[in-house]
Amino acid sequence: MDIAVKQNRECLKEVKRFISKKKWLASGDLYGLPAHCFERIDLPQSNSYTYSDYIVYLINKYKLNNYLEIGISVLKNIYQVASNTKADIYAFDINPLNDEVKLPRDITFFRGNVVVKNDWRALKALNQKHDIIFSDALHSLEGIKAEYDNYYFEQHLADKWIIIYDDAYDHVVKHIQNYIEPRLDVKFRKQIVIEGWVSEDRHPIYIISNREELNEDFKRT
Ligand SMILES: C[S@@+](CC[C@H](N)C(=O)[O-])C[C@H]1O[C@@H](n2cnc3c(N)ncnc32)[C@H](O)[C@@H]1O
Repeated sequence: MDIAVKQNRECLKEVKRFISKKKWLASGDLYGLPAHCFERIDLPQSNSYTYSDYIVYLINKYKLNNYLEIGISVLKNIYQVASNTKADIYAFDINPLNDEVKLPRDITFFRGNVVVKNDWRALKALNQKHDIIFSDALHSLEGIKAEYDNYYFEQHLADKWIIIYDDAYDHVVKHIQNYIEPRLDVKFRKQIVIEGWVSEDRHPIYIISNREELNEDFKRT
């Protein structure tokens, strides 16, 4: 895990600014970046573990090839995954791709709204099997259900899969446990509090997987 932390902190130094104020304000939903986060998005992360560290660590440890991020905002997490892993990256968001950040390699991006079934068609047509999915768009029951139902998660998961839900407060975890878990073969589940995309912004994420071996101990969070 410490290698992922080091690599992620290093690569973030390459990005001077994730988004200009003008572009941020022009987005219908501020790229999901509230004002207090916008002010801090370019500041250095602390050395506490972030969800990006966790994702990079898991991809490299388990040699995962196919990563999907739902809700990519200004590309801060994607930048770290693209810099520090070799996984193919698929991305979905309601906003246009933020062209103010130059990613170190190509990703496959589709613009759409998670609750609109038709918006998933182009991604669905690629017939991908994801090893790991980061769900970070709409954290409501409606959003969680919609991405599962509209994209047919079960058809697009690899044999061994990991799904990470951000902003997984207790009521969100309940939705996942009531709606998603009964539909999948879940062998590992864990809620942890961790830093997010800005330093000192700690909040829970919830991980589910059919990998029994996923017994990581994330003490330094
Ligand atoms: C919290 S941000 C994602 C942060 C990003 N994962 C990161 O760590 O760098 C949430 C993103 O989801 C997008 N979003 C919100 N509602 C959405 C919806 N209904 N469909 C698709 N994307 C949505 C927002 O526009 C925003 O870009």
